[in-house]
Order: sequence, then C-alpha cells, then structure tokens
Amino acid sequence: MKGIIIAIDGHSSCGKSTLARGLANALDYVYIDSGAMYRMVTLYLQRQGIGPEQNELLREALQEIELSFGPGNRAVLNGEDVESEIRSMAVSRQVSHVAALPEVRRFLVVQQRSLAGHQGAVMDGRDIGSVVFPRAQLKIFLTADAGVRARRRYLELRERGMEADFDQVSENLRARDRIDSTRKDSPLIQASDAVRLDNTNMDAEETLAVALALARIRIRKNATEDR
Ligand code: DC
Repeated sequence: MKGIIIAIDGHSSCGKSTLARGLANALDYVYIDSGAMYRMVTLYLQRQGIGPEQNELLREALQEIELSFGPGNRAVLNGEDVESEIRSMAVSRQVSHVAALPEVRRFLVVQQRSLAGHQGAVMDGRDIGSVVFPRAQLKIFLTADAGVRARRRYLELRERGMEADFDQVSENLRARDRIDSTRKDSPLIQASDAVRLDNTNMDAEETLAVALALARIRIRKNATEDR
C-alpha cells in the first residue's frame, strides 16, 4: 500500500518526536526530526561564533553545512554525530532565535521536503502541516499543559545523564513557545485541517494508539482514492 505523509506539529516537549518515531516504527515509514535540523544549524553557528544578526556570515555558513541522520536517526552535522550536543541547554536557548531567520528556514524546508521523498514519512516540527507539507494526508497538532511538559522534559534530560534545573527547563519551554508562535516567518499554528491532540493526561503509549488509529484510517482512505 502506498505511504502517506504524516505531519506532527505542536508546542515544545509534548512528545512529538516520541510519537513520530512510534508511528514511523509501527508503519515502517521514514521518520524525520525537523527540530534536530534547526538544532544542528544552531550548533554550527555557535561553534563558529556567528550571531543570528550577522546576515552575510550566516549566508556563507549555511553553504558549509551538511546535515544528515545516521543509524537510529542520530543527528549528523558535517559527518560528526552531534545527537547529544544538540539537546544541550546551550543549543535550546538559542535555537528559537535561529529558527526565526527566514534564510535558515528556506535552507531547511527544501531539505525536509526532499528527505521525505516519495515514500511514507512522519515528520515532526512546528510548520510541517502549515508550510513544509500543506497537503499532508494526516496532520496532528499535539499539545499538553505547560507544567506537565516541563516536567517531562526535565526527566528526559536527567535520564540522558544531562545537567538540568527544573526552573530553567520550564522557562526555556515557555520562551521557545512564545518565540515559535509569534515569529513572522512560519509561526507555530494549528493548520485548519489538523487534528488537535492534548496528551496532558495520556502517556506515550496511549498517545501513539490514538494517532495510529487516525493514521490507519487515512492510509485506507488514501489507498481507496488512488484506485
Ligand atoms: O522540536 P525541537 O524542540 O527539537 O525544535 C527545536 C526548535 O526548532 C524549536 O524551538 C523551534 C524550531 N523548529 C521550527 O521552528 N520549525 C520546525 N519545523 C522544527 C523546529
């Protein structure tokens, strides 16, 4: 059966990537973490000491960046595995500012479209259903209570063995949501045809079960329409 595109957008740390990965596994689809791509660009600029306002340097820097995903979807920047580093607070603090730059968005949207190719794909981010794949057959807008999200994020960082302060994590989430939702270029919005899923009182398994049921309906519908 032909694959569909599943777009998962929503606020920071409500389990988008866990859900997207789970869906991709269950359906044998490609999974693309678009947030990791913004994080890799941010890390590269930080390493080069280039600020978001340095337009000329930024343009040159983008030409030097090659992004890919290794086994287990690990983020690879110019051949180096940077999966852990891109999740650090240092990158989290900057990433929303970098993601607000139209130049960076243009650079990444082209790559996101080509990574999905012609097979079934699940992509998570902030503008996937609104900008990257406006014709995605299934769009899910995932959200959850801000306090619950901060707690999940804090526990996730601790589990990865990373330093984490709950108040800092919580403040970072709120700041990112604010910047991501109010930027001019491709702000985080719920597409009019997206299904809203609030998982404040659901665990990852329950969230996946609901999304998988939706996906199977859309896949069947898509196959019938194709005939
Ligand atoms: O999903 P994440 O938290 O790893 O994303 C990191 C940041 O990247 C997020 O604060 C906003 C930005 N982002 C974006 O602007 N558009 C996307 N499609 C994905 C992420």
